[in-house]
Amino acid sequence: MNAFTYQNPVKVIFGAGTLAQIGVEAKKLGAKALVVSYNDGSVTGTLTKIWSLLDAAGVASQAFLEVTPNPPIEMVARGVEQAKAFGADLVIGVGGGSAMDAAKAIAAGVLYTHGDLWNMVYASHSNVTAQPPEAALPLLLIPTLPATGSEMNMCSVVSSTTRRQKSYIWADCLFAKTAILDPELTYTLPPFQTACGAIDAISHVLEIFVNGQAKSDLLHEFQLGVIKTIIRNLPIVLANPTDADARAELMWAATCGLNGWASPGDAWTPMHQVGHVLTSRYGINHGSSLGIMMPAWMAYHKSIKPAPYERFEREIMPIADFKAFIAKSGVPTTLSEKGVTEADIPGIVEGVRTVSFNADGVLASNPPVTAEVLAEILKGAL
Ligand code: NZQ
Ligand code: ZN
Repeated sequence: MNAFTYQNPVKVIFGAGTLAQIGVEAKKLGAKALVVSYNDGSVTGTLTKIWSLLDAAGVASQAFLEVTPNPPIEMVARGVEQAKAFGADLVIGVGGGSAMDAAKAIAAGVLYTHGDLWNMVYASHSNVTAQPPEAALPLLLIPTLPATGSEMNMCSVVSSTTRRQKSYIWADCLFAKTAILDPELTYTLPPFQTACGAIDAISHVLEIFVNGQAKSDLLHEFQLGVIKTIIRNLPIVLANPTDADARAELMWAATCGLNGWASPGDAWTPMHQVGHVLTSRYGINHGSSLGIMMPAWMAYHKSIKPAPYERFEREIMPIADFKAFIAKSGVPTTLSEKGVTEADIPGIVEGVRTVSFNADGVLASNPPVTAEVLAEILKGAL
């Protein structure tokens, strides 16, 4: 087992109907809440309940409903201005990773003292100039889409439309004070979003499983347990979106997949680094980018480093069947489905190199991936 330092201060309130506690919990954290979410109605029912619960608890609130997927830093800046003008002392994020990450970046942006908000972002792994935020307004997060684990981690992923880049902010102050995980809020998720979230959550532990330490019994059982739980429950919710038990299983599995429990002593995200470029250049949504990357990555590496891949095939399913499972869930598994061709591969490699290659000129993974190898993997994903 590798050595590690672990800390996770998030208070988690889990269970059907727990949204009812938002007023009481918000009141403990602040008096003026900026509520950050989408504007197109997908979570309107949840927001309507939140307004009245905050009101009943005596917490003043203002809505900032400008979140779009892969939250752009320019939108975050507007949220920061509104939070300052309102005098917010609490930020509540309601939605999937994009809404929660936007809430985190806004909460940190209000107190940021290092200039341009993009300075918060780890935008180059080979030349790290990021100045992560040191403080943030208290955060209360309400996930409505099980996927990213943002509700219980210290990460916020943001994009820059002008730079065509996507990367992460990573700082202690981004941990929420409280997260309310109410699986009932996920009943309205369309099948595609449900499946993309589930595939993303699988990828978070799979990246560690195939790249991480060779021997750590509990860690590997935990990672495989998250994957098995999702694979068992995703088809159930796709068939019956209001299956309370299966929705709850998916929600907790996604949180546990990226709250640090599945990765102590290991931190690997190479497939995500490529996925971010597929998103920023081709608009491929996050879950789909991983649906495409995982099978190609696994197929390429299986012969090079057989042990974890063979174990995956023994305990989960053969890689080809895993690809078919992703496809049957409605998530793309090939670049060509998204209109990406072989001619696009050099540009994708260059995009990954710009943000994610380290000072040694490789993408951090185990084994490290060169530009040539990445091009081969991408060819396998066509
Ligand atoms: O567009 P609409 O129609 O409003 O649909 C929303 C939203 O745009 C819909 N949705 C969410 N909850 C719903 C719902 N529709 C109906 N009922 C509900 N209950 O889902 C659409 C997608 O939401 P989004 O927040 O973008 O999805 P997701 O949770 O997959 O988040 C993706 C973002 O999180 C980042 C990704 O890079 C991406 O920007 N990530 C964040 C991480 C973190 N903070 O640790 C790690 C992840 O690996 C990931 O990178
Ligand atoms: Zn992810």
